[in-house]
Amino acid sequence: MAIKIAPSILSARFDRLGEQVQEAVGAGADMLHIDIMDGHFVPNLTMGPAIVSAIRPLTKIPFDAHLMVTHPQDFVKPFADAGVDDLTVHVESDHEMKKTLRAIRDAGVRPGVVLNPATPLERAIPYLGEVDLLLVMTVHPGFAGQAFRADVVPKIQAAREHIDRERLSVELQVDGGIKLETAPVVARAGADILVSGSGIFPDHVAANLKKLREVAERAARDRP
Ligand code: DX5
Ligand code: ZN
Repeated sequence: MAIKIAPSILSARFDRLGEQVQEAVGAGADMLHIDIMDGHFVPNLTMGPAIVSAIRPLTKIPFDAHLMVTHPQDFVKPFADAGVDDLTVHVESDHEMKKTLRAIRDAGVRPGVVLNPATPLERAIPYLGEVDLLLVMTVHPGFAGQAFRADVVPKIQAAREHIDRERLSVELQVDGGIKLETAPVVARAGADILVSGSGIFPDHVAANLKKLREVAERAARDRP
C-alpha cells in the first residue's frame, strides 16, 4: 500500500501561506495537516477556522486538522464549517471521547484519535471501531522542529499489528520529527500516513516531499 504524505503547514511561511499550500499540493501532497493549538492544552497558539476557510478554496486535497485543544467538542462545528475533512482529537483532552467522535462523524468529517508519546496504545483501543484515523505522536505536541522520539516506535508497531489483526479500517498516522532519517523507521513500523512540518517547509518543498516519499516507500516494501 502506498504511503501518504501530509505536510504540516505549521512550518510554512505564514507571510505567504497560500503559495506554500500550492507548492505542497503541486508537489503531490496527499493531504494537508493543520495543527490547531489553543495555548492551554499545549503552550502555543496557532490557527483557527478563519485560516482554514482562507486556504480551503486553493485545493481539493483533504484537510487533516489535528486538534491540540483542551475542549475539542467546542471546535467540531467551526472547523467542519471551515471545510476540514479529518478532525483528530487527543485522548488526553478534557472531553467525552465517544461524544466528540460522534459529533465529528455527524458533521460529515472523518474522526481520529491521537495519543501523546507517553500515552499507551490501550487508551485508544476502545475507540478504534469508530474512527478512520489513529495518530501516534512521536514528539510531545506544541511545536514543530522537535526531535523524533524513537521510544515510540514499538507503539507504532503494536498499533499496526492491532489494526491488521482486528481488520479495522483505520489509517495509522505518525506525527513529529519525521525527516529523511526517521521516515524509513516509521514506514517500516507500519505507518500509513507520515506528517512532516520542518522536513518539508518552508524551502525546497517539492524536492523535500519527493525525497521523503521515496525513502518511506522503499522502507515500507521491507515491512516484516
Ligand atoms: C506538533 C505538531 C506537528 C508538527 C510537526 O505539535 O502536531 O504536526 O507540526 O512538525 P515537525 O515535522 O517539524 O516535527
Ligand atoms: Zn500535528
